[in-house]
Formats: sequence, C-alpha cells, structure tokens
Amino acid sequence: MNKKVYVGMSADMIHPGHLNIIKEAAKLGSVTVGVLTDEAIASYKRLPYLTYEQRSEIVKSLKGVDCVIPQKTLDYVPNLELLKPDYVVHGDDWKEGIQKATRQHVIDTLAKWGGKVIDIPYTKGISSTKLNEHLREIGTTPEIRQKRLRRLINAKKIVRILECHNGLCGLIAENACVEMNGVKQQFDGMWSSSLTDSTSKGKPDIEAVDLTTRLHDLNDILECTTKPIIYDGDTGGKVEHFAFTVRTLERLGISAVIIEDKVGLKQNSLFGTDAVQMQDTIEGFCHKIRTGKNAQVADDFMIISRVESLIAGKPVEDALERAMAYVSAGADGVMIHSKDKSGEDIKEFCTRFRKENQTTPIIVVPTTYNHIAEDELESWGVNVVIYANHMLRSAYPAMMNCAKSILRNRRSLEAANEYCMPIKEILNLIPGTKQ
Ligand code: SPV
Ligand code: MG
Repeated sequence: MNKKVYVGMSADMIHPGHLNIIKEAAKLGSVTVGVLTDEAIASYKRLPYLTYEQRSEIVKSLKGVDCVIPQKTLDYVPNLELLKPDYVVHGDDWKEGIQKATRQHVIDTLAKWGGKVIDIPYTKGISSTKLNEHLREIGTTPEIRQKRLRRLINAKKIVRILECHNGLCGLIAENACVEMNGVKQQFDGMWSSSLTDSTSKGKPDIEAVDLTTRLHDLNDILECTTKPIIYDGDTGGKVEHFAFTVRTLERLGISAVIIEDKVGLKQNSLFGTDAVQMQDTIEGFCHKIRTGKNAQVADDFMIISRVESLIAGKPVEDALERAMAYVSAGADGVMIHSKDKSGEDIKEFCTRFRKENQTTPIIVVPTTYNHIAEDELESWGVNVVIYANHMLRSAYPAMMNCAKSILRNRRSLEAANEYCMPIKEILNLIPGTKQ
C-alpha cells in the first residue's frame, strides 16, 4: 500500500529548499502538505506576505504534492491524528532551537502508530530570513497593505498598533522586535494620531491640521513601511467632506479610519469632562457612517466608529446603545474610549458588547488604564490595542533633556555622551544609506 507522508510548511516564499523536501517526501509515498494558516503563523511570527488561499494554491501546483490541507496550529498533532501518516518530512534545521520541542512532539505522536520523522539536510545557501529582508525592500502595494488589517484581526488574538507621526517612527513600528521564549513580538501596524500629528506641528488637537497637511507626513510613513495603518479621522468633519476623506485614504492603501461621535469644536478626549465634549445625535452619526460606507470603493477599507460617551461623562449604557446603532449603520468596528484610570468602565463595555455581538472588532486605546496588559484586554473581547501617543511622548522629554544639557554645559560633549546615539549609528540607521 502507498505510504502516507506529511509535510508542514508556511510556503510564503517557495525556494529550492522547499522543493527538495517535497522531492524527498514524494520518494516515500503520497504527499499531503499542511499549509499553515495565517492564524498558525501569526501565533509566532509576522503575518505572511501571501494569504492562505494564495499559498495553498501555489503548493497544490508543485510537482510531488498530492494533497493540500490547512494546518491551523503551529502544533502538528491535530493534523497527524487526522491523517495518521507513516512519515513526517522536515528540514533538519528543526533539530535545534525553538522547533526542537515541536519535533519531539511529532516523534512521540507518530510512535503511536509506528510512524517516523525523516529529517532532510537543510539546503545550504538559502535563508528565508534573507529572502524576507529582500521582500521588505521590495515593499508593498496599497491594496496588499490595506487588506492586511482585516487579515490580522482574523488571524490574531489581539492586533498591536503603535502611534507614528513621521517616517522615523514608521521604521520603529516596522522593525522593533523582541524575542521572548522563541516568539517574536512585534507591532502589527501603525496609528496616525491626530494628537501627535498636531503636537509635532506645534498645534492643538482641534482639527486645525487639515487632511492634506496630515497626508503629507503620512506619505513619508507609507514610503518606508509595509505594515497597515489606522488613520485617526477626528470627527470625520462635515458629512459631505467625509465621503472624500474615505476615498482619499482608501486610494493610499490606509486600512481603516476611526471617526468619533463628537460635534462642535473637537477637544482631545483625554481632557475628559474638563473640556466641553459634545456628542452627535445617534441618527446624525449613523448618517455619517452610512455616507462613508457608500463612498468607499472596495470592501476591505474599514470605517470604525468611536464612541465618546464615557469621555463625555455618560454611563456605559449610553455607550452600548450608540455602539449597537453604529454597527447597524454599517460601522466595521467599534472603538471605545475612556480616561478613567481603572479600566473598569472599558471592561464592562467590552464584556457586555461581546455578549450581544461576537464578531464586530473592538478597538481600545489604553492610555490612562495602562496597567492592563494585552492578555487581559483580549479576555474582555478586545481585538485591537492602540498605543496612541508613546513615540512622541517619549521623544519630547529626551530631546528637551538634550537641549538643556547643551545650555547647562555650553557644549555638546555631555549631551552626546548621555542622550545621543553615535554618529556612526545614525549614518547607518536608514536602510539603503550605505552604497
Ligand atoms: C489620538 O491619538 O489623537 C486620539 C486618541 O484620538 S486620544 O488622544 O486618547 O484621544
Ligand atoms: Mg485624535
């Protein structure tokens, strides 16, 4: 009888190493490839460039592959229990490092029905990491970038967004990475904040910096990054203008706009009730959402409604009533905001909203209740967490200290030693600087 062979792979960028593994697997019997879903890959590293459908389509057409199925977890065992293969074939690089435990798990599972792991010598001279770097250099397209936010929300338990107000911040959001227990922790995308866009121009956060001006800086971010962007659309302005804003953002490949249900002169929400925070009527804001949704051209762009009831000192009940109405009007997500430090009101909102609605993404901005970590937010039903102002808030004091040190010492030696990165480092900071 023909033996059953199982190969698991992400297949984001097929290279000769993959082909070699499939060739060797095919010598042993009939090959089933488990293509890792977005969800399985996003559990330990960056979302792949190609969608699951595209990746499985490519693998299906490779010589030596008989069947393709999704592998929904990093763990091979559910698929192995299903197929009971005689062999699992993998590159021998999994004998070391983070994958070592996975390999052992596979060996133990196969042993139950007499199956075996076959380790294929790693193909020299090919590095997925290097290929990934090149891919990043190639960049992205507006369409691919735009779709990425919905893909991330579907694939990840919680999507992590960092505020960016210029290209340099964009590079931080794109490249910052810490590895913990073999899992790479990175930001999934960027927040174009009205607060930090205005502040970095020396203006208050009152919609005084117009769309065209903000797009100028946003373009710098688009130029040097590939991750998705959520745009802070303030109140969305006049309904008639909002339709144009949606089209403009969509064309640029922005993934989502968040508009808040305030009217009159907008003040930053973190003033809370210290400022006059006037909310639109439910009907008025629903009309704005509907107008935006009618204006958008493709399906992927998201219009997210931001409920300001808690900021305006109203109860959770009011926030829930509004959120439900906005979703009925077509909003693709709900952002709930509060300046309360405990996070209790946000927790109550999220858990009550989730009881009635299990699918609409919830977005939060834990600036004041910043002791709540991502795992807990996730347990409340939150899908996206935005760190809304931290790049600017950390940069300003550092720059001020440096400026004061120069004044105090009447020279820059102390400032350079204490607050500045070496010249050599800044010269090489921007990719492509060295020819
Ligand atoms: C922003 O970043 O501009 C926001 C979030 O809208 S907040 O400042 O908290 O209102
Ligand atoms: Mg704002």
